[in-house]
Amino acid sequence: MTILVTGSSGFIAASVVKRLLNDGHDVVGIDDHNDYYDPALKAYRNAQNLKKGLKFFEKSILDKDFLKSLFKQHKFDAVVHLGAMAGVRYSQLNPHLYFDVNVTGTLNILELNREFGVKKFILASTSSLYAGEPMPYVETRPVNFPLSPYAASKKSAEVLSYTYHYLYKMDVTITRFFTVYGPAGRPDMSVYRFIEGVLEGESVELFGDGSQARDFTYVEDIARGVCSSIALRGFQTLNLGGGNNPITVTELIETVESITGKKLNVVKKPFMDSDMKVTWADISEANKWMNWKPNTSFKEGIQKSIDWHLNNRDFIKLLKNIRR
Ligand code: UGA
Repeated sequence: MTILVTGSSGFIAASVVKRLLNDGHDVVGIDDHNDYYDPALKAYRNAQNLKKGLKFFEKSILDKDFLKSLFKQHKFDAVVHLGAMAGVRYSQLNPHLYFDVNVTGTLNILELNREFGVKKFILASTSSLYAGEPMPYVETRPVNFPLSPYAASKKSAEVLSYTYHYLYKMDVTITRFFTVYGPAGRPDMSVYRFIEGVLEGESVELFGDGSQARDFTYVEDIARGVCSSIALRGFQTLNLGGGNNPITVTELIETVESITGKKLNVVKKPFMDSDMKVTWADISEANKWMNWKPNTSFKEGIQKSIDWHLNNRDFIKLLKNIRR
């Protein structure tokens, strides 16, 4: 198959691209390498996939002229749309950017899928939509009360995707991710920051008292789920999450400390209103549709993440510490 992956140098997308290339697909990637965090990390992830045959364009999903020429050049069988602004807390400071990229950007891709008859569309969405819902979170809940502009933008992208399925019979899978972590992760997220804080002996910020909890999910498990969803027909929304009892941020810190044998210096900051208190996925739908469940335990995943940080000290130290 020929598959377009948007945001292809992003944390999750790079792992998806790697898997698709290993499975023998022709993969085209686009990513604008914006500076939400240091683009050198995006280039690092991308470099591994370029070696394996990724055809890459450093372009934005807001560049409609470029997108059109790309769709003219290739006959895509599927589009895996992972390009997005993804930080929850930063979206409060920059809501317009989130709606431009996450909503208009999604609309740009959907319109081209329609125009060029691309059969399959996969949208990356988020556990952040489930605020206030009973746990574990199930996909059939209405999720109408997003706490952040980020979550609101993903809700908008979800409903747009449904409209395109309904009107144009496009096969659509919405994958809702639950706090994804792993090697070469996102530097704005807790796992990356806490590992770096411990290894560098630098203090980290803790928003709230650490009792907030996440259904942390390892990146390769997520990539496997996304790739499996390419074969699905019709329309479905699927949680891709750890599916276990949620792990508190305090437990995350303790795990990082116990594996590294070092203490983390934590500076307490107020809990953010846009932040979820807890997330926990019911993963029976993903299991039913694609026989999916995560294979990597939290401890194993954190160990692998720490190993990456240890093995790449020189590179990581050169990265600009952009705080969002
Ligand atoms: C993450 C991603 O950023 C979103 O892109 C994604 O959609 C979402 O997960 C999801 O899967 O639904 P979040 O859960 O906020 O968002 O992930 P982290 O940045 O790892 O934060 C987890 C918790 O740690 C939050 O309560 C956060 O406030 C806290 N945290 C994070 C800190 O206390 N300090 C930090 O420096 C970073």
